[in-house]
Amino acid sequence: MMDTTAELYGDLSKILVTREEIAEAVKKLGQQITADYKGKNVILIGILKGAVVFFADLIREIDLPLNIDFMAVSSYGAATKSSGVVEVVKDINRDITGLDVLVVEDIVDSGMTLSYLKKYLSSRGAASIKVVTLLDKPERRRVDLTADYFCFTIPDEFVVGYGLDYAEKYRNLPDIGVLHPRIYADQ
Ligand code: IMP
Ligand code: MG
Repeated sequence: MMDTTAELYGDLSKILVTREEIAEAVKKLGQQITADYKGKNVILIGILKGAVVFFADLIREIDLPLNIDFMAVSSYGAATKSSGVVEVVKDINRDITGLDVLVVEDIVDSGMTLSYLKKYLSSRGAASIKVVTLLDKPERRRVDLTADYFCFTIPDEFVVGYGLDYAEKYRNLPDIGVLHPRIYADQ
């Protein structure tokens, strides 16, 4: 039987951020980026797949001419903790020399993914590289990485929805919720 949205919501222990709170924060963030990047040559690079929902909403709140592209990185498996090993699975296929890059992520957890991506993109000649994330989990940081723009700081709990998954599920929930630990207790 297919999961209905109601069943997916049943796997959450609570809603952490509502769709209304997300919309308001994304709008404010878009206005801030619009002001900061006026006159610049900006490209937003979304990190697949978790950031797609946030990315699609964010670019429509930025009132500037801009380019978009996507990268996919992998840190292996369906576990709720990042392995720390980052591999580029899909790369951008354009020259970013001289461009002002905004890397758009769903969440910064250990910081390993973004720390790797920043180094990788600067080696390709970007004029500037800044990090935009919807969620920040600072308690779990393992490397020195600070997001330049973020919407919400959250506690050390595993969250899903609004693009974020557990084992590829829950990305289509419009709100962000804490996944009930019974869902991954057997892992
Ligand atoms: P980092 O490299 O440890 O910062 O991990 C970043 C990636 O781990 C994110 O892009 C997410 O795909 C994934 N991740 C970390 N925490 C969560 C979470 O609470 N829910 C869903 N995915 C998460
Ligand atoms: Mg993910």
